Amino acid sequence: MTLDELVEAARSLAREGRDLIARASSGDELATARTTLVGRKSGRLTELMKALPALAPDARREAGAAVNRAKEALEAALDAREAELRHTAPAEPRLDLTMPARRTWRGAVHPVTRVIDEIRDIFRELGFTVAVGPEAETEWYNFGALNFPVDHPAMDMHDTLYLSDDTLLRTHTSPVQVRTLQSYPPPVRVIVPGNVYRRDFFDPSHAPMFSQIEGLAVDEGIGFVDLKATLVNFANRFFGRRPTRFRPSYFPFTEPSAELDVQCGVCGGSGCPTCKQTGWVEILGSGMVHPAVLEACGVDSERYTGWAFGMGPARVALSRWGIPDIRLLYDSDVRFLEQLAQ
Ligand code: DAH
Repeated sequence: MTLDELVEAARSLAREGRDLIARASSGDELATARTTLVGRKSGRLTELMKALPALAPDARREAGAAVNRAKEALEAALDAREAELRHTAPAEPRLDLTMPARRTWRGAVHPVTRVIDEIRDIFRELGFTVAVGPEAETEWYNFGALNFPVDHPAMDMHDTLYLSDDTLLRTHTSPVQVRTLQSYPPPVRVIVPGNVYRRDFFDPSHAPMFSQIEGLAVDEGIGFVDLKATLVNFANRFFGRRPTRFRPSYFPFTEPSAELDVQCGVCGGSGCPTCKQTGWVEILGSGMVHPAVLEACGVDSERYTGWAFGMGPARVALSRWGIPDIRLLYDSDVRFLEQLAQ
């Protein structure tokens, strides 16, 4: 190459190089441009430098100066562009389409609430309405009006949580029977869901706070056959035609009294730990309302009769889904609850 050719080549390299650098839109592209232009081994500037020794000393000095100017111009442009790219917004984050999607949680109705809702709906169809009452009760509503004899063992501090001498946390929903009959003249048909409290140990089948559903029907001419027909109808609808049986029982506020068992849903009646090998699980207590209770509520027991029941929805949930430990229902462990979510 002659001196003129070399000087011209150095100028056009600087010109083309500036274009190439300006077009680089990422760090990677700029690095490639740097190698192409000023890379030590085979960059275009190096190629020009290799041509210098062939020139006469004066021409070499002149050409060398031209090549150096091109080199300085290119390096300045490269550095400036690099700084520019560093300050522009970072490239879009790369999407990893193989990444598992984030889990979304949907709320669900708690299994005990689901049982309460279903029981309520079945009785609503039979003409029952929902009634409620306070959780802090007096001894009279919780025990006295319900015909508990004075000093009945249930009133003992070991079984009942007292808030003061006369106020306690209701041990059952039965006091709402009394409150309802005091406020509404018969005919009465109510269903009463609510929380109740007992000083029980927290073991696989007992909790210190649990829910109950009470039922009460009072009218003229109501007999035990109404009780039995209604409760068997309920059990068939709720448990799907599992065998049922009534067992005589005792409650101070009913006479006669009976408990209703359904065949164990876990073993189908052959016996297992859930039914304590009996093949049956108790789902409720019931009976004809004791005349003394009607009188305590101001209802004429010569004219009116009635029947009542009390059921534990948590117990019912255990038997319905074969849950081995009642505490699972109160632990709020989503891994358990979501298996019963609808
Ligand atoms: N109150 C009773 C209990 O908590 C359950 C009960 C039994 C309620 C018989 C009733 C009934 O209304 O008739 O154990």
